[in-house]
Amino acid sequence: MAVLEQLTSQQAIDLENKYGAHNYHPLPVVLNKGEGVYVWDVEGKKYYDFLSAYSAVNQGHCHPKIINALKDQAENLTLTSRAFYNDKLGVYEKYITEYFGFDKVLPMNTGAEAVETAIKIARKWGYEKKGIPSDQAKIIVCQNNFHGRTVTIISASNDPVTTENFGPFTPGIISIRYNDLNALKEALQDKNVAAFLVEPIQGEAGVYVPDDNYINEAYQLCKDKNVLFVADEIQTGIARTGKLLAVNYSNIKPDILILGKAISGGVLPVSAVLADNDIMEVITPGTHGSTFGGNPLACVVAIAALEVVVEENLAENADKLGRLFRKSMQELGKKTDLVRLVRGKGLLNAIVINDSEDSDTAWNICVALKENGLLAKPTHGNIIRFAPPLVMTEEQMQECIAIISDTIINYKK
Ligand SMILES: Cc1ncc(COP(=O)(O)O)c(C=O)c1O
Repeated sequence: MAVLEQLTSQQAIDLENKYGAHNYHPLPVVLNKGEGVYVWDVEGKKYYDFLSAYSAVNQGHCHPKIINALKDQAENLTLTSRAFYNDKLGVYEKYITEYFGFDKVLPMNTGAEAVETAIKIARKWGYEKKGIPSDQAKIIVCQNNFHGRTVTIISASNDPVTTENFGPFTPGIISIRYNDLNALKEALQDKNVAAFLVEPIQGEAGVYVPDDNYINEAYQLCKDKNVLFVADEIQTGIARTGKLLAVNYSNIKPDILILGKAISGGVLPVSAVLADNDIMEVITPGTHGSTFGGNPLACVVAIAALEVVVEENLAENADKLGRLFRKSMQELGKKTDLVRLVRGKGLLNAIVINDSEDSDTAWNICVALKENGLLAKPTHGNIIRFAPPLVMTEEQMQECIAIISDTIINYKK
């Protein structure tokens, strides 16, 4: 068999099963083409993508502007490392800092790396600016968080699947209930707390939207105690929730903002940590880095991807279509008892399926949706996340609502 011979779905699945580590449990569909809100499998069947690569493809698959930026730059220069300057990094740094309103950016690649970076900055700030005694810095996190997969980050997780047999874990983490201001107030009594790391909406946990006042008041509590408010907007950012950032609903500016996924429109791994000078200046030559972080290819792709968000009014579209989606799903909930709850913001939404947490109903509904031409994936428990690319039209959304409604109404256990 030639190495890149066209495979059937089953052949591709068999290869992954045999030669790849089994660290994911994908829906049985093998994709080989994407355009806008659509993806195609190797047999040519077309689907609506309602996962958007965990919200990395907000601008739609293979957006021509982003792909052209990629192609043009790829023919000139892809990687210099930070041992030398390149002519794209500074331009990108100016662009992204002005775009989000911060003094400085530290460019990285994956989301987990950016979270690690933020934790390192927060700790260093804690020692050098706040005066926390050496090696005593603590970070407050929330239960059911998802911030990535490194050892330090899973040290902040309370999900046994994530942590089992991966110890020993990184110390200095205080875990509190999400959406619980009293718990935060109590945890902030500890003078060695450097930062509060939080998702404005918990995406992986099942699209948990906190109370309207939570983020704002949590921010104020942190300010009162000279603690950094660190927002992980890797999934919620870049227009996904109907505003450029989910914290924009609360009118606060985090001390540290973590972005990833859709900064590149899903084209290549780009992540970023943004902060103002008084925080970012704790990072000095040699204290942190990454061979690929800030590479010129990533820089031009990220600029194009962020331009698309503004040019195509993606936040407004996410807000409008999100409202339509939730309203329609709530109406669906009146017709079937399979839908227990609908929640979300913008185009980050979830349906909680009315069945026990360990049943496979959500999975089976996703398989049925796939048969009907729409790809979505369960998150924790019996919850299905619905997060299509933000370039969707109202007409396409209506078609998707019809597919989801028919599938759920006709679903037989
Ligand atoms: C909120 C949040 N933080 C961090 C990450 C980790 O990003 P990556 O998978 O790029 O490491 C994710 C990924 O789903 C996420 O949703």
